Amino acid sequence: MSDDAGIYRLTNEIALVQTLDFFTPIVNDPFEFGRIAAANSLSDVYAMGGRPLTAMNIVCFPVKDMDKSILRSILQGGLEVIHKANAAMIGGHSVEDPELKYGLSVTGIVHPQKFLTNAGAKPGDLLILTKPLGTGILATALKAGVLDEETTRQITELMVTLNKGAAEAMAEVGANACTDITGFGLLGHCLEMAKASNVGIKINTKKVPVIPEAKTFASMGLVPGGGYANRRFCSKRLEIDPSVDPILIDVMSDPQTSGGLLISVSESKADSLVRKLIEKNTPSASIVGEVVKKLPGIIRCS
Ligand code: CO
Ligand code: CO
Ligand code: CO
Repeated sequence: MSDDAGIYRLTNEIALVQTLDFFTPIVNDPFEFGRIAAANSLSDVYAMGGRPLTAMNIVCFPVKDMDKSILRSILQGGLEVIHKANAAMIGGHSVEDPELKYGLSVTGIVHPQKFLTNAGAKPGDLLILTKPLGTGILATALKAGVLDEETTRQITELMVTLNKGAAEAMAEVGANACTDITGFGLLGHCLEMAKASNVGIKINTKKVPVIPEAKTFASMGLVPGGGYANRRFCSKRLEIDPSVDPILIDVMSDPQTSGGLLISVSESKADSLVRKLIEKNTPSASIVGEVVKKLPGIIRCS
């Protein structure tokens, strides 16, 4: 539970889920940045199987150097996504800061016996990923000014997509463990899940959904620093079959913003979960691997 939200039981029926996230802009358009930051902040509530109720803005803004209209657009973007999540915006706090940052503090609810963490994965489970990978690499390309408009639009759309549908599908079918893919990349978050659940994880790299342009830029060496750090962090716990494309390992180490959910579900429920996810229009619904008893705390990629 190193990354997701905190839980506080109020009654036998209701527990609070609380989380907070904010960061510097990763796209140029302030409205889109607001939408992305809000979707990213809400994600930790969904990853625990919760439902967001209220959100508060956290703003760091360079009042002297930047036009106030930029801030207004960011907040409008955030508000739009908060409303998509059926949550209420109830306030916030801003400070003057030379570096712009935005995010949300979110409060949600979950049943105290039904919330999910990354510690519940069971041997025999299958792992499902609900968004393709590569937004970190492509955001780096965007910053470098080498990303085309179409791909910029595509990654923006992916990052503003709430994990709401994925969380609903998960609640309807029933799952054993979940985490959202963010800064540690797929491999880092798999490793966290493997350690917390005391299991091993086998990844079928051919089944991992990837934004095609991310592979192109990764093969040109355009990998964010965080990707290398993730790779190093995982290296001692990672077994890679020589047949695996090394570029794919870069993409699986790529830090994601507002990434998808990685859901560990019993094999008997996996097909119905995939169907439900497709019904809910999640960007991906790919079975990317399995949980094994052997190799505790190890990720094996083939
Ligand atoms: Co998270
Ligand atoms: Co978070
Ligand atoms: Co205040």
